[in-house]
Amino acid sequence: EQLPLQVTINGTVQNVSIEPRVTLLDLLREQLHLTGTKKGCDHGQCGACTVHVDGQRVNACLTLAMTTEGSNVTTIEGLATNDHGATARLHPMQEAFIKHDGFQCGYCTPGQIMSAVACIREGHADSPEEVREYMSGNICRCGAYANIVEAIMEVKQ
Ligand code: FES
Repeated sequence: EQLPLQVTINGTVQNVSIEPRVTLLDLLREQLHLTGTKKGCDHGQCGACTVHVDGQRVNACLTLAMTTEGSNVTTIEGLATNDHGATARLHPMQEAFIKHDGFQCGYCTPGQIMSAVACIREGHADSPEEVREYMSGNICRCGAYANIVEAIMEVKQ
């Protein structure tokens, strides 16, 4: 059975019809084709699917899409200022990841960046140790951790 869902994603109101068992991750990737949010483990272990729901970071794979009714969801696609004009620009955290080589293969990067933005917004970036603790749910198989912490500490300044 499909149920109606209205949710704002990256500033655009979406009206969709979904089965109640569908996760936010599958709604984003398979129905809305927002494939920037990655599926790593699909059970809350890797952080690749991290997005913001009403400003709070969540694992999209553990979130039933229906629970986002009326919410504002932000994905990696919504982070940059993109008006397709001269003022389009990356989010400062995206710039910092590039500057500090905060990725190698890049698969975990969207989730890392969404967590990194939340880390500063929630006030957990006062020291590298605090950043490492907050970011510990985001796994990077390439081992870019040191560079990711550097990027976050730079944006925090
Ligand atoms: Fe959601 Fe791994 S895909 S935590």
